Amino acid sequence: MDLRLDGKVALVTGGSRGIGLAIAARLAEAGANVMLSSRKEEGLRAAASSIAPGGGEVSWFVANAGEPEQAAACVAHTMERFGSLDVLVNNAGTSPHFGPIADIDVPRATKTVQVNQTAVLVWTQLAYKASMARNGGSVINIASIGGYLVEPGIGWYNVTKAAVIHLTHQLAAELGPVRVNAIAPGLVRTDFARALWEPAEEVVASRLPLKRIGEPDDIGAAALFLASDAARWITGHTLVVDGGALVAPGGGVTL
Ligand SMILES: NC(=O)c1ccc[n+]([C@@H]2O[C@H](COP(=O)([O-])OP(=O)(O)OC[C@H]3O[C@@H](n4cnc5c(N)ncnc54)[C@H](OP(=O)(O)O)[C@@H]3O)[C@@H](O)[C@H]2O)c1
Repeated sequence: MDLRLDGKVALVTGGSRGIGLAIAARLAEAGANVMLSSRKEEGLRAAASSIAPGGGEVSWFVANAGEPEQAAACVAHTMERFGSLDVLVNNAGTSPHFGPIADIDVPRATKTVQVNQTAVLVWTQLAYKASMARNGGSVINIASIGGYLVEPGIGWYNVTKAAVIHLTHQLAAELGPVRVNAIAPGLVRTDFARALWEPAEEVVASRLPLKRIGEPDDIGAAALFLASDAARWITGHTLVVDGGALVAPGGGVTL
């Protein structure tokens, strides 16, 4: 399989820790030039210096994924720095409300849509117009198995992840030959999901066919595959990477 990305340029939103950092590390190791983006400079600096490049360079740019002007500035900076944009990973996500959907207030509901859903549209539009429409490319959207499930506590978040899965289909249909795919992770060991895995990791793991919760690099490896030429005839697909949670009796805990 051709998993090398030498000479390619990748941009990862939410790239300073967790799943985004693991994806960025895989893409960099495969030879890509990588631009990390998130809200906080300190985390980005630390993340960039933690990655061992495999032939390209690793850089960073501060941008809130949910703010279109900051997204535009980040994509413009990436084009100035590296000259193209071949792989866009829409990874930044948020879940500011935990509880029944009946209780979510409009500002939190709106922010969840802005960061998880509208940002996927906006960053993809920007990458497409700046580079991919001419040079091709691959977009990878980080959804969640929650996009397939009805669950307590994170219902509105799951609605936005369902939207990401459908948006992936729509974008793939409209933007081809640019490839647009999604990954739907199950429960992964990150700060974001700590409240779900930390109190009962062994119980959660024992319910999964693969008997452990996910590690960020489990998603990193899947993203490298989708970004690479090995996935050259795959578009509009959502790759479930969940240790078997969706097929486990009763389903798995998700975020
Ligand atoms: N962990 C799981 O179990 C799980 C399961 C399914 C799906 N997911 C999805 O995977 C993605 C990554 O989650 P994670 O678990 O890796 O989270 P994480 O460990 O908390 O990392 C989140 C990353 O996103 C950045 N970020 C947060 N809000 C942002 C915003 N508005 N704009 C730009 N960057 C932002 C953070 O950096 P700053 O603080 O510097 O902004 C950080 O780099 C999310 O889309 C999440 O929904 C996670």
